[in-house]
Formats: sequence, structure tokens, C-alpha cells
Amino acid sequence: MPCLSCSDLRVSFRIQKKTARAVRGVSFELDDRKTLGIVGESGCGKSVTASSIMRLIPAPPGKIEAGTMLFEGKDLLSIPEKQMREVRGRRISMIFQDPMTSLNPVFTCGHQVAEPLILHKGMGKRAAAELCAELFSEVGIAEPKRVFSSYPHNLSGGMRQRVMIAMALACSPRLLIADEPTTALDVTVQAKLLELLKKLQDAKGMSMILITHNLGIVAGMAHDVMVMYAGEVVESAPARAIFDSPRHPYTERLLKTIPSIEKRSGRLTVIPGTVPTPLEIPDGCPFHPRCQRATERCGKEHPALRRVDGGGGKHQARCHLYG
Ligand SMILES: Nc1ncnc2c1ncn2[C@@H]1O[C@H](COP(=O)(O)OP(=O)(O)OP(=O)(O)O)[C@@H](O)[C@H]1O
Ligand SMILES: [Mg+2]
Repeated sequence: MPCLSCSDLRVSFRIQKKTARAVRGVSFELDDRKTLGIVGESGCGKSVTASSIMRLIPAPPGKIEAGTMLFEGKDLLSIPEKQMREVRGRRISMIFQDPMTSLNPVFTCGHQVAEPLILHKGMGKRAAAELCAELFSEVGIAEPKRVFSSYPHNLSGGMRQRVMIAMALACSPRLLIADEPTTALDVTVQAKLLELLKKLQDAKGMSMILITHNLGIVAGMAHDVMVMYAGEVVESAPARAIFDSPRHPYTERLLKTIPSIEKRSGRLTVIPGTVPTPLEIPDGCPFHPRCQRATERCGKEHPALRRVDGGGGKHQARCHLYG
């Protein structure tokens, strides 16, 4: 049974009397104890998709127009807000790119991690502090006592991110959503934190959604990969199939942007052109103006997401090259 099953999610933002469709019919399944990687360039709708799971879309201007999000027998998009609060931070936790937006500058890190335990789990002050220290050492904080009484701004970026992870794990969630959790950090710290996340996921039996624009990160972490472009899923498959035989020209191009040691001397390939904003999505295939393999049909007809060969029947691509 999947841990999370999302079907036909549609999210829009009302901007200056226009409707920007940021997420346009996204569906996916996340298996129990597995990691789904969501990749795509900036503005493709990754974070909006993730925030919709937690129902954290600012409304207005945002609106979840349609879709279902099945989790533990409930549709998260239709349960009352009171029930949703039970899910948020308890059954599903989220880690963001910038811990400063989630950590409160006026409280010590210890306070911020222990407080939810006292509030949600009814723990006593001392028990919460003990569990907090335990969580801090689990996430590789060498001096839990010092960090416990430190304010976020007194810590390094990597250390702050560890505190965020401890906070996200405090209530033993079943699903962890990590939205670009390491992009703000330098490469060695990044690698360490990703390794840590993977280890914790295994140990705790969590499912995970990992959002990044870096397919290289996804390679070592995700079981399945979903590639988004202009608010849509353009390709999804088991990770190996994505790397061994990408089908969508966009995925191919994204793969070429992964910096590797061999390519270090050369220039990093970036895909020419830009992602269309949700207000100016071109007709036909939204990628066609940037696609080297586009034909006349691509500018006219919107391709459907179709099953392609390989990937154990789980490989899908939205491209006229297939079908
Ligand atoms: N609060 C908001 N108000 C208006 N538009 C928004 C809002 N949040 C997101 N959008 C729009 O929705 C689209 C998708 O944004 P989203 O943040 O999901 O992109 P992303 O794939 O996460 O990109 P990035 O890699 O930069 O994080 C963007 O065009 C963005 O401008
Ligand atoms: Mg984002």
C-alpha cells in the first residue's frame, strides 16, 4: 500500500486579476519507506506541490483547485483544518531549504525542539529535554548541550539544518518532506546531511519526498523520480530508469547539467531558455520552445503522460516522441 497517493492536484494563484496555474494535474504515488525525488528547474511547481500535501498554500492568493491526497486513509485536501493540524508536524514533517525561515530567532534551539514534544505529546519538561538531547546526537550534533541553549543565529548553516532535521523527527513522522534541504550548504556538509537523512529514514521506517533541482542528489537517495516542468509531471520512473534511459528531452537535458568530476574542467551545461511562468504557458508541449527535438505537432498539441517501455511498467513520459 502506498504511503501517499496524490491524484490530479491543481493549484493556482490569483495575481493581478489573472490566474496563474502553478500546478496543473499532478499525480504520483509514494510507497511506504521509499523516497520519491521531485526534480525540475526553478518555478516548475515542486514546492507548491509539496506545500499542498501539508495544505500550507497561502490563501489568498493561492488555491488548491482540485485533487486528492490520500494519506493514512484520509484525503488531506478535504479533512477539516483541525484534523489537518494533527497531521502536520506529527504524521508529516517538512524540512525547508533555509532553516532561518523555520527556526524562530528569539528562542533557543532546545526550546524549539522540546516545545512541540511538550505540547503535542504531553511530555514533561525534563523528558522532552532528554529526548531533545537524544535527537540532537542522532542528527550528529557533537555538542548537544551547547546547541540546546544556543540561538539559531549562533550556529553554522549546517548545524542549523541539523537542528531542523531534529525538529522534523521529534514526533516520529511517517512522511518527511525535504524541500531543497541542503542547497544553501557547501558540498561536503551537503553530502554529510544527505547521508544522515538516508540513514535516519532507514532506521525510522519513514517515507520521504526529496525536492531538488539537482538530479545528482536524487541519484544516491531516491527510489523513484518525478520530473516536473511548468506545473506538470513530464516524466516519472524508478530512479535507475530515469538515469539509464531518460525518455523526455527535458530530463535528458537536466541529466546533462549534473556537474561531474570528468566535466569539471568543461562548462556546466545549462538548458538554454527559461521555464515559462504559470501566466504564459505556451500552447502544445510547454517545453517545445526549448526542445531540440520539437516538431510542428509539439507546438500545437499538448502531449499526455503515457507509459513507455522499461522501468517495470512504471516509466511514464509526457512527450509526442512516444505514442
Ligand atoms: N505565494 C505565491 N504567490 C504567487 N505565486 C506563487 C506563490 N508561490 C509560488 N508561486 C508560483 O508558482 C510557481 C511554482 O513555484 P514553486 O515555488 O513551486 O517552484 P519550485 O519548482 O519549487 O522552484 P524552486 O526550485 O525555485 O524552489 C512559480 O511560478 C511561482 O511564481
Ligand atoms: Mg521550491
